[in-house]
Amino acid sequence: MALLPLLFFPDPRLQTVAKPVPAMDERIRRLVADMLETMYEAKGIGLAATQVDVHERVIVIDVSEQRDQAVVLINPQVVWNSSTTHLNEEGCLSVPGIYDGVERFDAVTVSALDGTGQSRVVQAEGLLAVCIQHEMDHLLGKVFVEYLSPLKRNRIKKKMLKAQREDAR
Ligand code: NI
Repeated sequence: MALLPLLFFPDPRLQTVAKPVPAMDERIRRLVADMLETMYEAKGIGLAATQVDVHERVIVIDVSEQRDQAVVLINPQVVWNSSTTHLNEEGCLSVPGIYDGVERFDAVTVSALDGTGQSRVVQAEGLLAVCIQHEMDHLLGKVFVEYLSPLKRNRIKKKMLKAQREDAR
């Protein structure tokens, strides 16, 4: 296993639309293992392949307190969502230090392959539902700050670019 380097907003590669995974094979199993290691190391609750510059439909999530309930979603499709939404405070490993409110469905049902290539249906609510929607946006090339006002987004962009310049020194 290996830690994978993350892309940071506003890196244009984060806008790439991911392609479906063609087949579960050793390459995808390794990608999933590396993404899980990277997510746990960064203390994140979710990670999309897009964020490690792999543009295929793979997501890993763990919203448990004990960090022992990994959810792997390959080629996820939303098959149902609730009619109700709520505003949730979100952050993202690709936008470190920034948290803001995003409107999300209260509940979603997703069909996907799991980490072993088995078909499964996940009925999610609460934090897991929010996280699934956030990560599925990444696969469409969308970072959560794009839901914020242009003014806020530009302020975040400037802040991130400044931090990246300082890190590069
Ligand atoms: Ni994110």
